[in-house]
Amino acid sequence: MSATPESLLASATPLRFDGQVAIVTGAGNGLGRSHALQLAARGAKVVVNDLGAARDGSGGSSAAAEAVVAEIRAAGGEAIANGASVTDPQAVQAMVDQALATWGRIDVLVNNAGILRDKSFAKMTLEDFRLLVDVHLMGAVHTTKAVWETMRAQRYGRIVLTTSSSGLFGNFGQANYGAAKMALVGLMQTLSIEGEKNNVRVNCLAPTAATRMTEDIMPPEVLALLTPESVTPGLIFLASEQAPTRTILNAGAGVFATSHITLSEGALVGSGPDAPERLAALFAQINEGTGDIVPVSGMQQSQREMAKVMGA
Ligand code: NAI
Repeated sequence: MSATPESLLASATPLRFDGQVAIVTGAGNGLGRSHALQLAARGAKVVVNDLGAARDGSGGSSAAAEAVVAEIRAAGGEAIANGASVTDPQAVQAMVDQALATWGRIDVLVNNAGILRDKSFAKMTLEDFRLLVDVHLMGAVHTTKAVWETMRAQRYGRIVLTTSSSGLFGNFGQANYGAAKMALVGLMQTLSIEGEKNNVRVNCLAPTAATRMTEDIMPPEVLALLTPESVTPGLIFLASEQAPTRTILNAGAGVFATSHITLSEGALVGSGPDAPERLAALFAQINEGTGDIVPVSGMQQSQREMAKVMGA
């Protein structure tokens, strides 16, 4: 019989961030605000980054980040506001320099900033596609690149990338958003391997929450359950010393699950002239799913292929 959460909790260490410094991007609203408040409540000094953009990425004001900083300070915590756009590598570097100059280290980076430009692919402009890749993927690349050496050198770092079920599983009207969100999973896969030696752990959070991002796509009774605060425990775990690495944690309404990229057992089809037809005939079996593994790195695909060929 598996242990109950209550019996496991009795021996659990509190997930604290005393003496640690966290940067949370897009923390002026929604999920980022909830993450920043909770990190601060658990002892972290927090850089509250937010461009103050509208949902589609237009405009900008420092008011949102400053309001969250004021909330953290009012509760006895430490925080500073930063208005950099994650799309601007120089401004991002300046934000990291500001954190290091103020507090001397960076332990946690939460890549949360994001926007939407939903349209069916038929109607989507290339500009709307590029912008989403720029904010979600390149934004996270800029921040992560700017903290990477600091985390490696101090042999401690926790990086969370905010992915989405729209990227993992698809969603009508979100080709740009979904592609950019799934790219973050790819980023995690390699960074978690490269960061492991220096205790830099990289994970993805796939939230569902009632924020201005989702206010017009779900009914009010569903939105009432999907609070940002019910996602944040997932962020706290992924940002903590006890974090796993290379995990996709799905979180919504206090429900947590994990997603995996798997590889099926496969079959040796060969490469002769009739290989396409043989593949078509065997496809249902190849795609069936029993014997799926979660590869520890990309090399495992070629290893499996070699094993099949050698075994034949
Ligand atoms: P939100 O719109 O409430 O908050 C996003 C924040 O990011 C805003 O405060 C905005 O000003 C800021 N931002 C936008 N562009 C920025 C930039 N270039 N630089 C710095 N800050 C910027 O949205 P929400 O729902 O809290 O989303 C947070 C993250 O969670 C996003 O990455 C989103 O894609 C992701 N997500 C949200 C889901 C949901 O159900 N709400 C579902 C899946 C993923």
